[in-house]
Amino acid sequence: MRDTFYITTPIYYVNDIPHIGHAYTTVACDAMARWNRMKGKRVFFLTGTDEHGEKIQKTASLKGLTPRQLADQVVTNFQALTPALTISNTGFIRTTEPRHYTAVHDLFRKSLANGDIYLGEYEGWYCVPDEAYWTDLQAEDGKCPTCGRPVERRKEPSYFFRLSKYQDRLLKFYGENPRFIRPESRRNEVIAFVEGGLNDLSVSRESLSWGIPVPDAPGHVIYVWYDALTNYLTGLGYPGKTPEIDAFWPADLHMVGKDILRFHAVYWPAFLMSAGLPLPKGVFAHGWWTVEGQKMSKSLGNVVDPFDMVKKYGPDAFRYFLLREVSFGLDGDFSEKELVKRANSELADKLGNLLNRTLGMLGKYFDGAVPAPEGEDPADAVLSGCAGETLAAVDRAMDDVAFHKALSAVIELVTKANEYVQAMQPWALAKDPDKRARLGTVLYNALEAARVAALLMAPFTPSASQKMWDALVPGGGPVENERADQAGRWGGLAPGASLPKACIVFPKIETGA
Ligand code: MSP
Repeated sequence: MRDTFYITTPIYYVNDIPHIGHAYTTVACDAMARWNRMKGKRVFFLTGTDEHGEKIQKTASLKGLTPRQLADQVVTNFQALTPALTISNTGFIRTTEPRHYTAVHDLFRKSLANGDIYLGEYEGWYCVPDEAYWTDLQAEDGKCPTCGRPVERRKEPSYFFRLSKYQDRLLKFYGENPRFIRPESRRNEVIAFVEGGLNDLSVSRESLSWGIPVPDAPGHVIYVWYDALTNYLTGLGYPGKTPEIDAFWPADLHMVGKDILRFHAVYWPAFLMSAGLPLPKGVFAHGWWTVEGQKMSKSLGNVVDPFDMVKKYGPDAFRYFLLREVSFGLDGDFSEKELVKRANSELADKLGNLLNRTLGMLGKYFDGAVPAPEGEDPADAVLSGCAGETLAAVDRAMDDVAFHKALSAVIELVTKANEYVQAMQPWALAKDPDKRARLGTVLYNALEAARVAALLMAPFTPSASQKMWDALVPGGGPVENERADQAGRWGGLAPGASLPKACIVFPKIETGA
């Protein structure tokens, strides 16, 4: 098995400030990146901004700015989003950087040289917000088939990419790599689309100046999607023969929203095939959030600001909600009420309470010193068995990009641990000096379950997990440096360690209700 993992977010348009959609993809990638590090892999995690194209040019001119001024302003919001959400990205790319021009030119030239890119004339329906051309059939009611906004008729000389040539090779590739497009339902959609026939793709614009120039063709700039997709290579130093390219290309996972799957699952592999480069191993398309049952939009004024959410609830509860609430891949509905409910009932009442209450008893009965466990009752074996199963379940779930399953498995373990404490009644054992050893074992097991839970939660709630880890493993250092398979093994809690008498990681959120 390769010991490296390369994961990417889409690069975000700088015509607007970050919203929950951006936060979602980035948080999902972060959980995946952190988990893979905990599996002992070397991870490259790239995010960044998509700064060219008509959309940016239009927004800039409306604001009386040059596109570059707009990009320079807005990019700071995306750069600030990563620490706010405790994101562990290793790279950040802006498509206006010189290194990106070099990469795009190199890729484009390869396809020009082999005849896969040729000069022709384009006529079609153009959707400016989506930067996409549509055929008569696709835009039959004068509206963009993805966003529903009006399209414009356009005709211009254009360079074309010979996408039609790649139809069979793409279908063969999907057939041989059933995990390339996930989830399954989306894979079927893409296959049906490609089977329907592929037209050559316009990959340059004459009507636009804000973009990367087509090599040796004054007046033409490269289509923003061709430019944008190439970021995944630029981020590793392409076309240089860098150690990162060697170690991390092809990408393991491009995480995207369902609306931009086609670009990643059809166009991008075709561009790479044409250039003779290895293809990514996977593209996962997640669903979209509505807000309180409604489509999120500026005009409705219901756009969820991730900075706001972090300010109100902290990064951990927000991250937790995003990945716990919906089956990853499906659409979901965001509501602060539900976020608070989940954070209170699962993080505060279950996980936080298990830790704090057990530490409290350890303080009271053992002055905070971890006792050595003695013997194993059937109930103890059930709990330790459950911890082992949870580790395996999280591993499987992460392999399937099913964050909700990973999290529900951890919460299940915590629930079992709380029930165990309830059933063992340490407060009653404490009254009988003959049961001191048993009392010690029960507290040990409860704390050990909390330790395993803290570890397995680290990809999702990194700050809270670190606090729990510091409490349970004094001097243990960063939890993210732990190997899940080793540190997740039952019995890691060190007898004799001196633990704090309380630790509140998830304070209950007051609703005012
Ligand atoms: N710039 C392109 C991507 C180029 S990648 C080579 C782009 N940018 S974007 O800023 O418009 O969108 C980025 C991501 O946000 C997409 O994956 C999109 O699916 C996601 N979301 C936008 N609104 C969303 C929701 N309401 N819910 C969930 N994700 C959504 O597309």
